[in-house]
Order: sequence, then structure tokens, then C-alpha cells
Amino acid sequence: MTAKPTIFTVLTLSLCTLVFGAETAKLTIRADEGKETINRNIYGHFAEHLGHCIYGGIWVGEDSPIPNTRGIRNDVVGALRAIQIPVLRWPGGCFADEYHWKDGIGPREQRPTMVNTHWGGVTENNHFGTHEFLDLCEQLECEPYICGNVGSGTIEEMAEWVEYITFDGQSPMADLRRKNGRDKPWKLKYFGVGNENWGCGGSMRPEYYADLYRRYQTYVRNFSGNRIFKIACGPSGANYEWTEVLMREAGRRMAGLAPHFYCGSGKNSRSATDFTEIDWFWQLKNALRIKELLTKHEEIMDRYDPRKRVAIIFDEWGAWHAVEPGTNRRFLYQQNSLRDAMVAGLTLNIFNNHCERVKMANIAQTVNVLQAMILTDGPRIVLTPTYYVYRLYTVHHDGTLLPTDLNCGSYEFGGDKVPALNVSASRDAQGRIHVSLCNIDPDAAVRVEATLQGADGRRITGQILTADTITAHNTFENPSAVEPVAFRGVTVTDGGFVTEVPSKSIVVLTAQ
Ligand code: AHR
Repeated sequence: MTAKPTIFTVLTLSLCTLVFGAETAKLTIRADEGKETINRNIYGHFAEHLGHCIYGGIWVGEDSPIPNTRGIRNDVVGALRAIQIPVLRWPGGCFADEYHWKDGIGPREQRPTMVNTHWGGVTENNHFGTHEFLDLCEQLECEPYICGNVGSGTIEEMAEWVEYITFDGQSPMADLRRKNGRDKPWKLKYFGVGNENWGCGGSMRPEYYADLYRRYQTYVRNFSGNRIFKIACGPSGANYEWTEVLMREAGRRMAGLAPHFYCGSGKNSRSATDFTEIDWFWQLKNALRIKELLTKHEEIMDRYDPRKRVAIIFDEWGAWHAVEPGTNRRFLYQQNSLRDAMVAGLTLNIFNNHCERVKMANIAQTVNVLQAMILTDGPRIVLTPTYYVYRLYTVHHDGTLLPTDLNCGSYEFGGDKVPALNVSASRDAQGRIHVSLCNIDPDAAVRVEATLQGADGRRITGQILTADTITAHNTFENPSAVEPVAFRGVTVTDGGFVTEVPSKSIVVLTAQ
């Protein structure tokens, strides 16, 4: 039983805060020690044929009054280019294991339709297919990452898709591509051999999938100087057995293994924006679990692959809330609040810190689905708090990870606790040091006394993403409720800096 706070304890606590200020955390950034690169693909994205991610969100068609380039929304492309989107995964998700790529090529009005059984049983008209996706990636200047169909597709179909996209000479598939208007092949590096094959991708046992993976990947060929980075379906959350079996039976035949983890929505959230502190706490506590999941999957991978040749490609992650009231339950359309920004900020810090093994991550999903960057409403778009985390964290792209030692207090709620602060740091090609700090505590600031080991005498600037309430979010009517602003609360000290990270905020500092 917990004792109720008395007037005496309340007064004492308030007095302590007045006298000593915010709780102090000690941070050491080992600026003279970095050796691993934070692969920019950790900041990757995922777009599935689901709800209004592709249709309406990205693809509006050439005849749309919404400004577009060959059918693809200009505003969405512009917004994604501004966060330097490095890689985009497509066409699913669960949709990938039902998708037959030949339905999505050729004159659009002649393309066959299909039923999108996973996502609302709606009719898919296949107007957005291979050419459109690769055009989108060219407009975004990002790497395409295609997920092939193992669950309901054939080996021949998968082999031909790669030939269609990448073969330069004369062949049935290259000729078909030319007939459809594309002479030169595209470059395609990332190819996934199935998605969630333990679930929507075929309900397989790991032993069975491992054998299928070995078989399918054999025919995913390197044509015309293109080299494919083959990615096997990874585990769901804490399914360590899946990682064990895949690494044991097929580890030598894969370049990447792709785990998935969604951190839910807290305890009783009614929606992405209708929640209270109990949900904030439980959601963020659950999001922090990704550190333990990574550590344990890495331990297994290290036994089979001590040289860390096989990458973790964390190609689905994020928050999963109840859909916005009045929207299709299977379209997974959710708003996005400061809570989601915090999920993104702390998860990306964890990925950065695990960049020795984690070489790509793809938040689910880019537009209008789950933890989206962008929401659309006809011609209007709104950028979410999560989008702004991606914008702030561009400074870490391809930086050198700097090891950090953090000693901080806890954020306590309902008799439970999590570390209040979460951090990662990097050095960019110009020698600037970037530090991203997330203060999870919704009520208390954290004072940070930081040492920049081996790098002193710096000028420090910063930006902050926060709001007055934990449920704050951007809407079409009020699109700027949660946006980064300049942060001036930092003082350079002998050998480092002191700052106070406000409650429920993400602060990104640059020392140069
Ligand atoms: O991102 C939504 C769905 O979540 C994906 O289609 C599937 O892979 C996962 O279960």
C-alpha cells in the first residue's frame, strides 16, 4: 500500500525543488571515441496499400486538381524531401504477401483489380504499381525497398519482378518493361523475401519459413551490376525462437533480418489524442522495451554472426492507437500527438545507439496510416509532431555515433518508473556534435550537466519540440500547435554544457 502524501511531504518536496532546482542528470559524451556510423536508413519509412496511405495520401492520379507530378502529390513529396527520407519500403506489410506485381504494370485502365482482404476488403485498382513506386522514389531521391510475396506468390513471380526492374539486356521481363515505357533498368538494392510470414504472410513456423527463405532468395538474382541486399522476415517483438532458427538455418544467406515491434497505445487510450497520463506512461514504458528486444536479438545474432555481417532491418515499428472516431477500422487512420513524438524521439535514440547492428528502420507508416509523418484531407496536408522529430534528427544521418554515459533520475507514475531521460549523440562530417535528449517526465524538467569528452570550447545551439499538454497535436485547422522552436536554455561550461530539458520535451543540441 502506498502512503498518501501529507501536507508536510508536499511542502518539503516543493521546497527541495525551489532550493535545488530540477533533478540533475550527469551526461558524458565521449566525443573522442566514436567508431560506428548511424546509417541514414535508420530514418527510413514504409508505405503500404492500406487505407489512404497510397491512394489519396501519395497517389492522386494525373488528372487530379491536387498539384501532382505524374500522379504523385507534390506537397507530400516536398514534405518528405525536407526530412531527407533515405529509403521507402513498399508495397506492404500484409498487403505484400497478397500482391501480384504484374497486375500493377501497363496501361492503368487495363490493369486488373483485386480485393485488399487485409485492409477493409476494398477494391485495389492497381493504379499505383512498380513504375509509379519507383518514380516516387526518384522524386524523393530515396532508395526503394521492395517486399516480395512469399505467402501467396511463386518463386517465378518473385524472380521475374527483380528481372523486370533491374535487367539491362534483352529478356522477356526487360522487354516488357521497355514496352511499358521504361528503357533503362532501375537500381534496386533492398529486397524483402516476404513479410510477417509468422502471421499475415502465411502463418508459418520458423523452420518452414527458413527453408522457404533459402529457396526463394536463390532466385533473387543480381542482374546487370545491380546487387541485391536480401532481407529475411524477422521476429515479432520478443519471439527469440524465430531469430534463433532463422540465424541457424539461413543466416549465411541473408544480408538483413527484419523484426517488427509496435508499442501499442498505453493502457486505456480511447484514441491517439484522447488519453491521460496513465496512457502516456505505459505507452512510453512499452516503447522503451525496444532496447531490451534489440539487445536480446543481437545476443542471438552474435552467436551465429559474431562479425555482425547480418544487419537488423527494423522495417516496421511505431505506435498503434484506436482509429479516429468515425473512420474505417481497417484503415488504421490515427492522429498523432506529442506522445507519438516522444515515442519517435526515444526509439530513434535507441536505434542510433544500436547502429552497429541496426542498419535500417522503417516507421509505420508514411501518410495517413498509424504513426504517420503526414495526414491529408483532400488537398490539405498537416505535418505531425512525429514528422518534426524526423526533421530535428536529420542531423544524425550518417553521423558517427558518440558513446554516451547517462546517469539520470526516474519518471515515476503509479508505483512504477522509467528513466526520465533518453539520449543519443553523433558527430557529423564537419565535426559538429549533435545531442538529442528526450525528457519523458510530463511534469518535471531535468537539469543536465554534460561533459564533452575530448571536445571543448564549443558554441552550442538548439531546438526544442514540446507543448503545454501531453495530448497536443496538429490539425488541419491548427497545423502549428506542435512545431520545433529555437532552444536557448543551454550554457557552455568548461569542458561541456549545462542545460535544463523542460518536461515532456525533445531537445536537439548542436555543438560546434
Ligand atoms: O503496418 C500495418 C501492418 O502491421 C502491416 O501490414 C503488417 O506487416 C503489420 O502487422
